[in-house]
Amino acid sequence: MIPRLKPFIGFEEIAALFRPVNDAVQKFESAFAATFSTRHAVAFPYGRSALWAFFKAMGIEGAEIVQPAYTCSVVGHATVLSGNIPVFVDINLHDYNMDLDAFRKAITAKTRAVLPTHLFGYPMDVDAVNQIVHEAENRFGQRIYIIQDCAHSFEAEWQGKSVVNAGDGALFGLNISKQITSIFGGMFTTNDDEIAAKLLALRERSYSEKSWSEKLFRLFYLPVATIAFNDLIYGFTYWLQNNTGLLRQLTDAYHLDEKIHFPPDYLKRLSPVEARVGLEQMGKYNTIKSRRREIAAMYFDQLKVPDTWVMPPNVEGATYSHFVIRVPNRNEVMKLAAQHGVQLGQLIEYSMPHLPAYQKYSSNNQYPNSLLCSQSLINLPIHPGLNQKDLFKIIETISHI
Ligand SMILES: Cc1ncc(COP(=O)(O)O)c(C=O)c1O
Repeated sequence: MIPRLKPFIGFEEIAALFRPVNDAVQKFESAFAATFSTRHAVAFPYGRSALWAFFKAMGIEGAEIVQPAYTCSVVGHATVLSGNIPVFVDINLHDYNMDLDAFRKAITAKTRAVLPTHLFGYPMDVDAVNQIVHEAENRFGQRIYIIQDCAHSFEAEWQGKSVVNAGDGALFGLNISKQITSIFGGMFTTNDDEIAAKLLALRERSYSEKSWSEKLFRLFYLPVATIAFNDLIYGFTYWLQNNTGLLRQLTDAYHLDEKIHFPPDYLKRLSPVEARVGLEQMGKYNTIKSRRREIAAMYFDQLKVPDTWVMPPNVEGATYSHFVIRVPNRNEVMKLAAQHGVQLGQLIEYSMPHLPAYQKYSSNNQYPNSLLCSQSLINLPIHPGLNQKDLFKIIETISHI
């Protein structure tokens, strides 16, 4: 079975788990800042925790935070749990990012931040976003922070320039499903000295060290996950996923869509063990980025899909965290692909304003595109570890469904 995702972990990362490094977290932050050309990078236990910390550090409370209706639920959770109000914007059906007209209309006198999200690695038009926000700032006479959600995209480029530095800050998730990983973890990058200082002060004040058992859990998590994603073992992992509640229990502690919730350790600092893995991954970032682009190019070139399917756009500067196709009969397609040994993903199976926990934040807008995508998107494996044989199998399987 070819897994729908697989962390790009080698001997170096496993060795790094056991090799002490002085000031590993600081070194990881410096390497991260250097890789993404930002002045500051501040590490957190999760991406959501970094966003939560930004709101807290900047004293943003009771404010409206404009964000996509179709995104990971933890973004909404961070908004609500920091005492703010999510304002959802429907997405467009071209690159699945926020519709710019709807985005403009969603900004009000109560907006204190907007979250341009580069979903699936597709860069938003950050120039248009900045212009809309600056016009709104002038209209309402208040500062509106622009925080890029780069959890999927990392440094996708808009008009040749990385989106990471297009606003006041950027948010990254670093769990094993992301383009680079520090086991768990998240990062907030910024070029603004004041934001960085406030984030560091908040982290110092409000976050504590992980307990030894939490550190030990992370130490074992990576080798176990690496084995679980091994080609020879993955059939069994897949069986466990579908036939037992074991893996579900693990992910439920970390991530729930139905309930506005954070994992219990969201106020525990990133551990040195995680930082050491992250440091190793930084050296591989360019390889990961170019390999994903190569695989996407192969799919664009060689996949043959029925007329009723909608292929993703081929966008310059995209980093392809996911290669998404819209299909009318998702369950059937996923089942057929699995029968041929290819696991497809259905990454975001909900539209945020349609989730019961978020209905009170849903406006009169119907968010039809978000709803459609929640019901019809599949994503193909696109991890850099795929070899030519795997790719041939994926292309053959999908082209013959
Ligand atoms: C679009 C998006 N933003 C933010 C996050 C937050 O990352 P984390 O899971 O590290 O909290 C995720 C994670 O899945 C995501 O997909």
